[in-house]
Amino acid sequence: MLQKTRLMRFAASVLTSAIALSTPLITLAAEDPTEVAAAVVDEKYSEQGSDVKRLFASRCSWCHQGYGMRGADGPRLAGTDKSRDIVIETIAKGKSPMPGFRKQLKPWQIESLADYIKALPDE
Ligand code: HEC
Repeated sequence: MLQKTRLMRFAASVLTSAIALSTPLITLAAEDPTEVAAAVVDEKYSEQGSDVKRLFASRCSWCHQGYGMRGADGPRLAGTDKSRDIVIETIAKGKSPMPGFRKQLKPWQIESLADYIKALPDE
């Protein structure tokens, strides 16, 4: 009987920690999808020291607002129907009036921006 109670307490504590651990992630996703997309991308390019939102803010934000979630001079990037390859090409070569970035950014930086854009949600 005592054993059973212990087991149930243990199960309850595991469940509680699982909920406690997942809540911040769920809250993060609900509050800011750009953080979720950036976390995945920064993990993928962690060896290069990726900080994709910072990169986006310094190069792209004056035309693409809200870290890609809102349009301004440039279109909203979240939910683009272009493939990853086309997005990479657009960032590298530009698309008038958007400048090309292949001389300013390293290939992995351009790829990380494309991965980030493709990881943003549609709505
Ligand atoms: C000077 C303003 C400007 C800057 C800076 C800029 N863009 Fe753009 N971007 C545009 C405009 C305008 C378009 C639309 C071009 C068109 O379709 O004619 C565009 C289009 C795009 C597209 C194609 C979207 C689609 O669905 O067709 C991508 C991807 C993109 N930009 C990514 C970026 C990224 C990443 C950066 C930063 C490295 C960046 N842009 C910086 C203005 C800008």
